Amino acid sequence: MTKLSSINGNFKNQHILSLDQFTTQDIETILKTTKKMKDIAAKAIPTKLLEGNTVALIFYEPSSRTFASFSAAIKKLGGETLEILDPTHFSSAAKGETLEDTIRVFEAYSDAIILRHPQKGKAQSAAEASRNTPIINAGDGIGEHPTQALLDLATIYEKHGKLDNLTGVITGDLLNGRTVHSLIKALSLYKNNTLYLLSPTELNLQREDYNTYQQKGIKLIEIQYEKQIPQNAHFWYWTRVQKERFTDTTQYEKLKTKFTLTKDLLKKTAAPYTILMHPLPRVGEIEPAVDEDPRAVYLKNQIKNGLYVRMALLALVLGKKM
Ligand code: NCD
Repeated sequence: MTKLSSINGNFKNQHILSLDQFTTQDIETILKTTKKMKDIAAKAIPTKLLEGNTVALIFYEPSSRTFASFSAAIKKLGGETLEILDPTHFSSAAKGETLEDTIRVFEAYSDAIILRHPQKGKAQSAAEASRNTPIINAGDGIGEHPTQALLDLATIYEKHGKLDNLTGVITGDLLNGRTVHSLIKALSLYKNNTLYLLSPTELNLQREDYNTYQQKGIKLIEIQYEKQIPQNAHFWYWTRVQKERFTDTTQYEKLKTKFTLTKDLLKKTAAPYTILMHPLPRVGEIEPAVDEDPRAVYLKNQIKNGLYVRMALLALVLGKKM
């Protein structure tokens, strides 16, 4: 099996590790399939698309939505799961087994492996260790979180009907936030997108990443104050400061709620069409009063789309005809 290879229309048996593998056509395929999955889930049409398939979920880091939505997606399509949460304690990793060996073992019992790992690049290592089972990256440290970006795109598309000519604001921990890295890569595949990046300077994007993304053609504008947020954004994408990536807790405490999404900020700065997104979990950076705002999609569409997008991706990777 090829490793970090482009999808180019062929999802079957592909490792899904990074947004670098996608073209806009591949994203279109995901969005179309997601729509079908939404209908399947809403009308509760019984489907046995994944009947006979077992998918392993191996999560070395905590997760609520990603884990639960993958698990639900598999079951809704009639497949079965092998779920290993906290393998460092509950698998042979506790005895010192390497990730590569763990992957080789689970390959024998599953048709696809969904992996979350605290270190950047480990999804790629797993893909290299795998003989013929596709690995889906459910977050590799500060690296990427491709399925989150796909559901974020589905949410933006659902609300705005396009993925180009967008103005967005991304706030929070741009240095460590893997969802942000995948989302910026995704949006840079499309024409005329502009992103305002609001973060404490300590948590700015890495310069290398910043330059790479810009070269892809996306316009990135780093800002330092909430008052610099443009009034015409199609979406605000708030993120939490990633506590688990800090060695200095005082530094974390200092930065964690530097930028808070409040009703007041919304009133002053958002447009009637600005959707409010967050990959969740949120830990104080969104005032709960914002939840009632009809523009807030983080506890609604974004979560649901996580299920539909993962149903779509699994069906495609497992080569199902729909
Ligand atoms: C994100 C993650 O794990 O990167 N969570 C998620 O999957 N929705 C975001 C985060 O933990 O901040």
